[in-house]
Amino acid sequence: MIKVENLSKDFGSKRVLDNLSIEFETGKTTVVLGRSGCGKSVMLKLILRLLPFDSGRVVIDNIDTTDFSESKMMPIRRNMGMLFQGSALFDSMNVFENVAYTLREHTRMNETEIKARVHEKLSFVEMADTELMMPSELSGGMQKRIALARALANNPDYIFFDEPTTGLDPITSQTINELIKRVQVHTDATIIVVTHDLESAAHVAQKAVLLYNGKVHFEDTYDAFRSSENEFVKLFRSGGKVIESYERKY
Ligand SMILES: Nc1ncnc2c1ncn2[C@@H]1O[C@H](COP(=O)(O)OP(=O)(O)OP(=O)(O)O)[C@@H](O)[C@H]1O
Ligand SMILES: [Mg+2]
Repeated sequence: MIKVENLSKDFGSKRVLDNLSIEFETGKTTVVLGRSGCGKSVMLKLILRLLPFDSGRVVIDNIDTTDFSESKMMPIRRNMGMLFQGSALFDSMNVFENVAYTLREHTRMNETEIKARVHEKLSFVEMADTELMMPSELSGGMQKRIALARALANNPDYIFFDEPTTGLDPITSQTINELIKRVQVHTDATIIVVTHDLESAAHVAQKAVLLYNGKVHFEDTYDAFRSSENEFVKLFRSGGKVIESYERKY
């Protein structure tokens, strides 16, 4: 279980997260929705402690990590797999080395074990024959799959997907949704999917959280989100343009 409690984060004079509290249940997939710029990626980076926060707490498996140093954070971070928005593959490394990276950095696996694990993860994402290709030779959808294989390499208990389908065509998006489903079925991982793709959310969400102005605006099952009569939820479901008129109104 990951608990963020009263988390606040400012950039300069701008408050991005404002006393944000969410519980991400063990073994479940929580989808975090919200408009562009509302702080979804920042929230993931605060949990990973890639960025510091201003106040609040981050509790992971009942361990309060709020005051943890870099070195104390390392073993926790090792247990977290992150698919970054935009994939963020290492351009100068081939596919094999991209997926092997965390294993080389964070485990004592020998070369034979690394080869077997990379092969297993690339097979899982149906990219087994791409080991020697460079990221620049791959389509956006293929890059997402490789980034997913890299996030899974270490068999982490926590997996974060930041906009896994953004920028992909509907068919490729669907294959990524299917892969996330497979991760759900094949692991007991606690999964956070950050997205504004409602189609994707509908496929993978067990719980939905909608952020607005740095706070949780709605939190319930995805079915409840789908049928909610809450005005902002209804507007969010119906698309961005209407939300702008909502903001003018309030
Ligand atoms: N390192 C940073 N320095 C300054 N401002 C930042 C930094 N990272 C994020 N921000 C600001 O924080 C706000 C939230 O950014 P964030 O990337 O979390 O949005 P998001 O909800 O993930 O949006 P999107 O859906 O477009 O990915 C934005 O206004 C952004 O400009
Ligand atoms: Mg983002």
